[in-house]
Amino acid sequence: MDKTITFLEKHHDRYEQELIEILRIPSISSDPGSLDAMRDMAKLLKKEMHSIGMDTARIMETGGHPVVYSEWLNAPGKPTILIYGHYDVQPVDPVALWDSPPFEPVIKDGRIFARGSADDKGQIFIHLKAIEAWLATQGRLPVNLKLIFEGEEEVGSAHLEDFIKANKSLLAADYVVISDTPMFREGYPGITYGLRGLAYLQVNLKGTSTDLHSGSFGGLVKNPINALVEILAQMKDEDGRILIPGFYDHVLPITEIEHDKLSKLPFHPEDFARNIGAPALFGEAGYDDLERLWARPTFDINGIWGGFQGEGAKTVIPAEAHAKVSMRLVTDQDPEDIAHKFTSYVQSLTPVSMEVDIQAMHGGFGYLTELDNPGLQAGVRALKRAFGKDVDFLREGGSIPIVKVFADIIQAPVLLMGYGLPDQNAHAPNENFSLYNFHKGIESIVYFLEEIGGLE
Ligand code: BES
Ligand code: ZN
Repeated sequence: MDKTITFLEKHHDRYEQELIEILRIPSISSDPGSLDAMRDMAKLLKKEMHSIGMDTARIMETGGHPVVYSEWLNAPGKPTILIYGHYDVQPVDPVALWDSPPFEPVIKDGRIFARGSADDKGQIFIHLKAIEAWLATQGRLPVNLKLIFEGEEEVGSAHLEDFIKANKSLLAADYVVISDTPMFREGYPGITYGLRGLAYLQVNLKGTSTDLHSGSFGGLVKNPINALVEILAQMKDEDGRILIPGFYDHVLPITEIEHDKLSKLPFHPEDFARNIGAPALFGEAGYDDLERLWARPTFDINGIWGGFQGEGAKTVIPAEAHAKVSMRLVTDQDPEDIAHKFTSYVQSLTPVSMEVDIQAMHGGFGYLTELDNPGLQAGVRALKRAFGKDVDFLREGGSIPIVKVFADIIQAPVLLMGYGLPDQNAHAPNENFSLYNFHKGIESIVYFLEEIGGLE
C-alpha cells in the first residue's frame, strides 16, 4: 500500500491540473444550449476511464443525456462495487454574484472555485484517481469495479431509473458507492447513512377566464391568489407541524442509537443562523435541530406567482394563481402517496368557485443504510485511516432520489462517502471544493477499495 500512497503524493499537482480541465466544461444539464458540453464531458470521462486503466468504457444512450459506464472485473471471488456519480451541474445564475467565472476554476485558500467542483465532478474524480493509483502501482484492483456516471441528476434523473431497470444484470453489484454529499465539519470525515426523499408539485388555481377590474367585480368573485394563500396557509400549523391528513403515517422515528450519535455532533444554532443571515432558526416543535434537518419531513413553498408584479399599482383580480411546492420526505414515506395526499387535501380546501389543477413534478424516496452494514464499516475504517480522525455519522437533508432505486433494483446497500463541506455553496454562486478533502478523499478511496476487498 505504501507505494500507492507515494504515487498519490507524487501526482498531487497533476490531479489538480486534471480536475481544473474537467471543471472547465459547462455541463449544465437543464440548459438546452449545453448539449455539446454535455457530450464533451461524457467523452472526457470515457477517455479518462481508459487512461486510468479500466478495461472498458462506453457512452450509453438514454432518452436524455448519456450515461458513461466502465468496468474492471478481474478479481474473481471479490465483491463487486458500483460507483455512481453525476457529471452534470446546476445553472450558474446569478452569475454576477460569482467572484470568478464559474467555468474558469480558481484555487484560493485551499479551495477550488468552479460550478460542479463539489457537486459532483470533484467527488467523482476522487474515485477515478484512486483507481488509477491502484492500477498503476499494483497492476490490479482488490475488487471488481463498475462505474456509472449520469448527466441528469440535477434535473431529477428522469431517464436513469429505466436505464437501471433495462441494464440490471450489467449493473449487478454487492455495494453501490456514491460521493455526492458534504461532510459535517472541516477536517473531520463523515459517512452519510441517511438521505431525505422528495415530492415536488405545482398547483394552478383558475378563477375566471380573464383578469377582472377589482372594482367592477370585487365582492362577487373569489380571487385565486387569495384562495391559494388561504389553501397554502393550511399546510402547517404554527408549531411547524404539517397538516396534510396522513402525512406522518409512515414516518420512521430515529432510534435511540442515532439520537445519541446526533446529539454528540457539535451543532451551534447561533452560528448556523449567522452563516445564513437569519435572525433565528425555526423548526418543528419537539425535535432537536439536527433531527429536524435530517430525520423529519418538511413542507416548503418554493415559488408563488400570479397577478400584477410590475411597478406601481393595478386594481385587478387575476384570473390565475400558481405555486411550486416541495416536501422533503423521510423513510418510509412514499413520494407518490404523499403527492396523492397533498392533492386530495388541496382539492378539499379549494373553494367551489375555483378550478384547481395539480401536477406532480419529480420525486423520490429517502434512504437509510444500516449502521452495522459491513460495507459502511469498511468505509468508516478507510476514512479514519486517511483523515486520522474519528468519523462523523451523518444523515443529510438533501435528496439523491436514484439511491433508493439502486438499492431496490440492484438489491445492494448504498454507501454515501461524501467529501464536500457545509459551506461549499452547492447550487449557489462561488461553489467550491476543499483540495485537502480532494487529496484525502483519493487516499480514503484507495484504502476503501482495500478494506472492502477484504470482506467476504
Ligand atoms: N448533491 C446533491 C444532494 C445533496 C444535497 C446531498 C445536500 C446532501 C445534501 C444533489 O446533487 C442534489 O442537488 N439533489 C437534489 C435532488 C433533486 C434535483 C431531485 C436536491 O436534493 O434538491
Ligand atoms: Zn446538486
